[in-house]
Amino acid sequence: MITAIYPGSFDPITFGHLDIIKRSVRVVDELIVGVVFSHNAKNALFSVDERVRMIEEVTKDLEHVKVVPFRGLLIDFAKDMKADVIIRGLRAITDFEYELQMSQTNHRLHAEIETMFLTTSVEYSYLSSSVVKEVAKFGGDVSQFVPEISAMELRKKMKQKGECK
Ligand code: COA
Repeated sequence: MITAIYPGSFDPITFGHLDIIKRSVRVVDELIVGVVFSHNAKNALFSVDERVRMIEEVTKDLEHVKVVPFRGLLIDFAKDMKADVIIRGLRAITDFEYELQMSQTNHRLHAEIETMFLTTSVEYSYLSSSVVKEVAKFGGDVSQFVPEISAMELRKKMKQKGECK
């Protein structure tokens, strides 16, 4: 039985994240999507509850997936969840250095949990949540980048913030 964690900010979840989730469930027995409360370098647009709800909605038809928010170190969360593996997506060479550093640090902190990488499908390799938020901010159509629930929540959020019409 392999339990894996797929961690991230998911602010909001995109088709790129969903692609990694769907491919991960084919190779592990249980997938926990770990949603970080806050990220040092990022101010989240959505609250953790909003991010969790969007992921739950888009993964509701997938078996053996649960969505769990976490604070603190990823490796501690992975230990608490009794995970065997951390899954990360690699989009391009630019992701590599950060991911290598993170996986080696996590391995140093707890060698029992491995990090596995899935390369992002080509059609999503340019995607990021920040780019999607930028498009939404100026009223652009984000439906090709994110599931309907994320697009809807982005529209609502941008209206609340008075960012677009
Ligand atoms: N397709 C499209 N986009 C993708 C993607 C994919 N497959 N995978 C990631 N992205 C995008 C995300 O949308 C995000 O875009 P953004 O920067 O515009 O927000 C970016 O790539 C990276 O995001 P993500 O994969 O969600 O990682 P993250 O950097 O937001 O979060 C954590 C990384 C949460 C795993 C990390 O910060 C963490 O572990 N934090 C806890 C503290 C800790 O343990 N630190 C590490 C010590 S070594």
